[in-house]
Amino acid sequence: MQPTLVFTLCLFFIAAAFATADYVRPQPRKTLEFPWNSKPASYPQQVHISLAGDNHMRISWITDDKSAPSVVKYGTSPGTYSSTAQGESTSYSYLFYNSGKIHHTVIGPLEPDTVYFYQCGNQGSEFQLKTPPAEFPVTFAVVGDLGQTGWTKSTLDHIDLCKYDIHLLPGDLSYADYVQRRWDTFGELVQPLASARPWMVTEGNHEKERILLFNDGFESYNARWKMPFKESGSSSNLYYSFEVAGTHVIMLGSYTDYDMYSDQYNWLKDDLSKVDREKTPWLLVLFHVPWYNSNEAHQGEGDWMMAAMEPLLHAASVDVVLSGHVHAYERSKRINKGKPDPCGAVHITIGDGGNKEGLARKYKNPQPEWSVFREASFGHGELKIANSTHAFWSWHRNDDDEPIKSDEVWITSLASSRCLAEKSHELRKILMAP
Ligand SMILES: *[C@@H]1O[C@H](CO)[C@@H](O)[C@H](O)[C@H]1NC(C)=O
Ligand SMILES: [Fe+2]
Repeated sequence: MQPTLVFTLCLFFIAAAFATADYVRPQPRKTLEFPWNSKPASYPQQVHISLAGDNHMRISWITDDKSAPSVVKYGTSPGTYSSTAQGESTSYSYLFYNSGKIHHTVIGPLEPDTVYFYQCGNQGSEFQLKTPPAEFPVTFAVVGDLGQTGWTKSTLDHIDLCKYDIHLLPGDLSYADYVQRRWDTFGELVQPLASARPWMVTEGNHEKERILLFNDGFESYNARWKMPFKESGSSSNLYYSFEVAGTHVIMLGSYTDYDMYSDQYNWLKDDLSKVDREKTPWLLVLFHVPWYNSNEAHQGEGDWMMAAMEPLLHAASVDVVLSGHVHAYERSKRINKGKPDPCGAVHITIGDGGNKEGLARKYKNPQPEWSVFREASFGHGELKIANSTHAFWSWHRNDDDEPIKSDEVWITSLASSRCLAEKSHELRKILMAP
């Protein structure tokens, strides 16, 4: 063919694609297949990292070999490890499944915004991680309900293209759904990203895996995805908080008690009483089941938790609430008690990571006044906090495998508004209540 003819044809097809630009929603993709891993039993598998108190990082991995050491060697140049840290290990059994040895080793103190090279258990490849910055700007990648399908892979590939410091995951990780081997394949799938940047997760319904009269639930999740709950004064891995670069992040549990008399509620009050908005002007909260949701899926499931905790979060001037569960994307105006309120939080549902259950396509109509943007597509979010007053939120749809930006908004902090001062009395009253 003539080059000019090819060129004309190309133009024609591009024009045709634009002419029929109506967005065609992609179909669910198959669960990925994982080849049998033939590495030696002492090789580290499923390496992931998480923040563990100021300037520390927890390195987690699994070995088939029960005698493999829980040691991490690390340093700032490849192949030379100036520091060594000794950790702990655990394991669990679930019906006929026995887990490998699950290692958790805290390293530090670490310098902010620095690349470290590390090796787990004196075996296998070298990994590298970057610590978050000590000051703004800081960028969070956010997505829930990941699973392990072709769409999960597409979402992770897109996240990998963005410059981010920390991954926030508001629940529903592996979709193992009682088949424990799937926790292992999920660990392998996320390792390239989760070994390089901290993954801060909270639990969803798919983490529960409870069998009546047999277990209490969350066995696998708690053993594998240990979060800094002790470091943040919590008695449960199901809720905790951490601070990074001027941002206080609270991870709550939708599937543990949250009423006024619960441990979680009392821990939350205690945690909020320690937040210093001079030091951390931004306050984020994550949990699994959305409170503001105009999708037909999971309608009203968050109502009880909202009734119990929204007054407290409102009094504390929470900036943004991120949740998952509904397999779609939705962003609200600042809202409180069901009504737009300049001192309320922006609520974002981002349960569109790409799991095997597919998208939640049906919405309630008309779109509620508080709902700004809603769409049932797979994708991920990015929250770039520029400084103490401004943050940029964007949602990236996995459209034709391109990370297309589909929704974006500048959010200004409540710390820079009158809200914080106006509500200080209200907050003190709730925090002082027995
Ligand atoms: C904060 O960032 C925004 C957006 O980049 C910018 O317009 C504003 O001037 C910054 N404020 C300060 C105090 O630097
Ligand atoms: Fe869920």
